[in-house]
Amino acid sequence: MDSNQLEQTLVLIKPDALKNSVTGFILSQLSEFHTGSRFAAAKIVNVHRMLAEEHYAEHRGKAFYAALLDYITGAVHYPVDVWKRRVIAIVYLGPNVLKTVREMAGPTNPHKAREERPGCLRALGTVVPILDAKGNKIDDRMDNLIHASATYEDAEREIKLWFLPHDIPPLMRAYPTEVCETHYYYKDDRLFNTYEPDSVFLLAPGDVVWKSDLEILRQHAQGQPSQGQLNKVVAKYLVNRTAQEQ
Ligand code: GTP
Ligand code: MG
Repeated sequence: MDSNQLEQTLVLIKPDALKNSVTGFILSQLSEFHTGSRFAAAKIVNVHRMLAEEHYAEHRGKAFYAALLDYITGAVHYPVDVWKRRVIAIVYLGPNVLKTVREMAGPTNPHKAREERPGCLRALGTVVPILDAKGNKIDDRMDNLIHASATYEDAEREIKLWFLPHDIPPLMRAYPTEVCETHYYYKDDRLFNTYEPDSVFLLAPGDVVWKSDLEILRQHAQGQPSQGQLNKVVAKYLVNRTAQEQ
């Protein structure tokens, strides 16, 4: 495959899409028939707060940030049935796939989507006011059904954040991988090479890892810590951990 054929994007079918049963419609729109692109990987993800924070790191500190995390973790649409809190994460691959899927999604704001691009997926979304403790509106939450990476750089960061190499068939992987030579465990913002009680297992010798992730882990293990970087690697190992493990 040449590099153009390996263009990839991360698509998230968000909790509002699952709740409103438009999953099938979205998947059908994404099909090879409609887009000329192919599914490379897919999984059902109970989104850990740390994964949500890493995914939306650029919005940290904004008025809508807390509501955005509650939305993507599923807490907004499934306040009681915690077990239903999921998104469907997909790696989608094909020529011009970034642009194709962004256009299919449409504008971020569903009101704008309905006005400017009737028929796009986000035209089916909604906008909900975010209120402060006194009931005053502070911003909007945009429930827009689908996420699609905006640039090549975003796609690489996001795919490595949500997926391990072994989630993707080897010939469909777009980013360099490397074989890990040691054990890694994580607990309380620290890395360990042997098991510690209550630590999260990350890697064992022989595991195939994104090369850039392994570089971050090695740097950390050699005492050059950068917590933000480490969280980026660890967040994907928290996918589908139970509430007790969070
Ligand atoms: P995603 O595909 O979800 O990443 O949307 P996007 O790429 O169109 O927008 P962006 O990455 O900038 O923002 C991520 C999410 O934050 C959006 O889907 C919105 O829910 C929310 N958001 C982004 N910008 C704004 C804003 O200016 N105001 C409000 N209220 N919400 C925003
Ligand atoms: Mg975005």
